[in-house]
Amino acid sequence: MRVVVVGGGVIGLSIAWRAASRGMSVTVVDPAPGSGASAVAAGMLAPVTEVHYGEEALLELNLESSRRYPRFVAELEELTGAETGYRSCGTVTVARDADDLAALDELVAYQRGLGLDVERLRSRELRRLEPGLAPTVRGGALVAGDHQVDPRRLVAALLEACRRAAVRFLPERVEAVEAPAVILESGGTETGDVVVLAAGCWSGQVAGAAAAFGRSVRPVKGQIVRLRRGAGPLPIERNVRGVDAYLVPRAGGELVIGATVEERGFDTEVTGGAVHDLLRAALELVPDVAELTLVEAAAGLRPGTPDNAPVVGPTAVDGLVAATGHYRNGILLAPVTADAVVELLATGEVPAGMAPFSPRRFDKVLSR
Ligand code: FAD
Ligand code: GLY
Repeated sequence: MRVVVVGGGVIGLSIAWRAASRGMSVTVVDPAPGSGASAVAAGMLAPVTEVHYGEEALLELNLESSRRYPRFVAELEELTGAETGYRSCGTVTVARDADDLAALDELVAYQRGLGLDVERLRSRELRRLEPGLAPTVRGGALVAGDHQVDPRRLVAALLEACRRAAVRFLPERVEAVEAPAVILESGGTETGDVVVLAAGCWSGQVAGAAAAFGRSVRPVKGQIVRLRRGAGPLPIERNVRGVDAYLVPRAGGELVIGATVEERGFDTEVTGGAVHDLLRAALELVPDVAELTLVEAAAGLRPGTPDNAPVVGPTAVDGLVAATGHYRNGILLAPVTADAVVELLATGEVPAGMAPFSPRRFDKVLSR
């Protein structure tokens, strides 16, 4: 089986690594692997904290991928000797005022109704757990099972794993898909038995993929800020989620504050307003953020879809498999997506857990 993977973000690289490990001959085509949303993402692995009303099918997929994460990164780290920054740290959701508390109570009731493990905390309990939180916080909730990974390190480890598994890299932009081949910007052609389109928010832009995706994948801008501690420790240990921002503290001393959610097409400008709003929201929750060194502000483009869920599986185009549309969960969903795509390539069948996320669910919408 010769597999051509278009796009070397966390999704394309995870598929390439797993497929090559199963003995398939894999080529990844990407002018700049790891340069898309995967290079900007915070790396929260928080299926329970980030559950959204009405997205129960997606929750199941997120939980399944979350369960696979420890083994996924352990295998990757053992194989490559690289660290991914994986931490099983938990997340606290924080309420600043009575409105936040009311919303939090509703969320906790919803989470518990779904059988999820979440602990409601009073203000004092919350601050005992995370003394860096502002004294004014009114209460919160702890999801001990949430975790995190450093997406940049993860991508570096995946690149190394791919190299060790003899994945071939073609540093070129794909202009068009003529499955099972792709036409390169340089005019050349790369032919396989199957093409896997994993070009993130750009997947719908590749000519020939329109019949498979049409307008179903779009860019959703996210701006994010990175800070670093000086001599002392970071002011928080766990992921912290507020209403207007989340904070992800890494073991190496980096603190990530995210993120905006903006419908601005392919724009990746970083704006003063967004940086101001993120920092203000973070400072309100964790005042000592003011002491950290500002390292970077960046914007990335999430691959969004009409129902916020990924598109993974065979498309209407023969020989073209989709693996995109992971929106806010692409880092989290990498293990389960890679396993599902490799299963499909090996057996012709999509695993049951991935069946609800077929690209074909948008056929009717796209034909209008
Ligand atoms: P990308 O990482 O965007 O990679 C796509 C690749 O395709 C790129 O390397 C690009 O060069 C290549 N490409 C594009 N066009 C072509 C072409 N024509 N030919 C060849 N190659 C092409 N997810 C989480 O799970 N947890 C988080 O905490 C989280 N935080 C986030 C915070 C922000 C601010 C943002 C923006 C996203 C966040 N996400 C998070 C979402 C996550 O980053 C994405 O869902 C995920 O990175 C998508 O991965 P991908 O491989 O599909 O796409
Ligand atoms: N999942 C976090 C984000 O997309 O910002």
